[in-house]
Amino acid sequence: MSLAHFHHTNILDIDQFSREDIQFILKYAQVLSQKERGQLSHLLEGRILASLFFESSTRTRLSFETAMIRLGGKVISTVGFQFSSISKGESLSDTMKMVEAYADLAVIRHPVEGSSRIASAAVNIPVINAGDGTGQHPTQALLDVYTIFIEKGCIDGLQIAFVGDLKYGRTIHSLVKLLCHYNVKMIFVAPIDISLPESYRKELKEQNIQFEETEDLKAIWDCDLAYVTRIQQERFADQSQYELLKNVYSVDRSFLLASRKETLIMHPLPRLNELNTDVDDLPHAAYFRMAGYGVTIRMTLLLLCLNIDIESEI
Ligand code: NCD
Repeated sequence: MSLAHFHHTNILDIDQFSREDIQFILKYAQVLSQKERGQLSHLLEGRILASLFFESSTRTRLSFETAMIRLGGKVISTVGFQFSSISKGESLSDTMKMVEAYADLAVIRHPVEGSSRIASAAVNIPVINAGDGTGQHPTQALLDVYTIFIEKGCIDGLQIAFVGDLKYGRTIHSLVKLLCHYNVKMIFVAPIDISLPESYRKELKEQNIQFEETEDLKAIWDCDLAYVTRIQQERFADQSQYELLKNVYSVDRSFLLASRKETLIMHPLPRLNELNTDVDDLPHAAYFRMAGYGVTIRMTLLLLCLNIDIESEI
């Protein structure tokens, strides 16, 4: 498959991708990861990325900005509503029309679900959704699946656990949808109050994906990998409910070593009590390696959105 078959300019929602698109992104990223840095550092020379983060971020923002800089491009940015004209009442669409005059593409994180679609509708430059409220986080899902592809060598045939805040975690929502393109079994580990929303359960049934739901953390012992997430305090209307749930799970070293299987532990980070630091030096721990994969995937996505074929450019 060549770039000619990849028709996506914007990355707004994981639903826009077919299995062929995902396989293409993974292959493109793998080819890119094998290149010398110097071979890539001119590919986006003269291009500007607008990095618009209206919600907290460390990894996603820094990895997009690093990706742009490594490709030879430059970055302009705004962080938080406080320092943008949105705090003066400007609409997101008007902000985007300005951004279009400054930049060649934009990455946006926003607390309101659906906002990246509104942003993209206002402009003719590519727009990438870097997380919209409790909705989607498609580039994280692509980096998650790239991690699985690199660390496990395959995706089909795996048994995958999702642990923690399955209700509000947008990384979970995007990854579950993406994995519906593969032959995997999913195990959802969460208390009932923060279990997977019904719409996702319905989709899994429609796609004939095997899945189970449980509150018992020991279910991860049988899995090839566990995707652990924090309880999303900022999404709870009732903070007393958060207090009750915040320490519901803790994956630690002795718990993992009690299993016969070496379950790979992934986490989008930031982590709180759900993942103990004593896991960090076990071979199970993939979460810091994910930061490196994140740069590769975001370099890939910047190039693809700008329709750059690495093989013919290098
Ligand atoms: C996640 C997010 O922002 O949704 N972080 C990230 O992008 N790596 C997960 C989280 O905040 O819990």
